[in-house]
Amino acid sequence: MAYLEQEIDKIRTDLKASLGMDPVEHCLARIKTEESMREKCRRNNLPETEESALGAIHDAIGLRIVCAFVDDIYAIRDRIRALPDVSVVREKDYIRHAKPNGYRSYHMILQLPDGYFAEIQLRTISMDTWAALEHHLKYKRDTGPQTDLIIQELKRCADELASTDLSMQTIRDMIQDRTGQDAPDNGKPPIGLTDK
Ligand code: GTP
Ligand code: MG
Repeated sequence: MAYLEQEIDKIRTDLKASLGMDPVEHCLARIKTEESMREKCRRNNLPETEESALGAIHDAIGLRIVCAFVDDIYAIRDRIRALPDVSVVREKDYIRHAKPNGYRSYHMILQLPDGYFAEIQLRTISMDTWAALEHHLKYKRDTGPQTDLIIQELKRCADELASTDLSMQTIRDMIQDRTGQDAPDNGKPPIGLTDK
């Protein structure tokens, strides 16, 4: 896990230099508790042994990377894919293909150099907010006769947040295009002054 965190840190530093801003809002690492591992083994009809736990449960190590903008998620994803000592076992793009309830995030299952598996969740601040609240509500209480309405409303919130994420991304693109034009030494000649 320390290895993975270090690699993510390097990616973050590199992107920070090229973007001019930190693409990561915050990063959270966790190791599944023994009880939670046992519960998952039972749920998946696996024996509660170390081999089955570490071989078949791919999210014993979890890393959540919360980004400011949607494009940063894909930039970090590309950099993770390119890590030489890490193999990508599975990817799920719940951003382009949101879950029916509205859940959005980019999931990657990685195999680390030591053989262990890790799950990375990449999401924006909005997606993270929604997931936290939805999780909270889901496990809080029985929603009774209002359940359908609640599901529908949560989905609507998720879609509105996703639409805001896209708008924020568009605003950033607009600002970057402008600063790109204004910057005196961005390597590109000013528009209209290109050498023939
Ligand atoms: P588990 O759900 O861990 O058994 O694995 P899975 O194979 O179904 O993987 P999936 O990629 O669907 O989900 C993995 C993790 O993503 C979950 O443990 C949650 O942390 C998160 N997640 C997935 N779906 C939802 C959702 O609908 N709401 C919230 N709040 N989190 C979700
Ligand atoms: Mg699941």
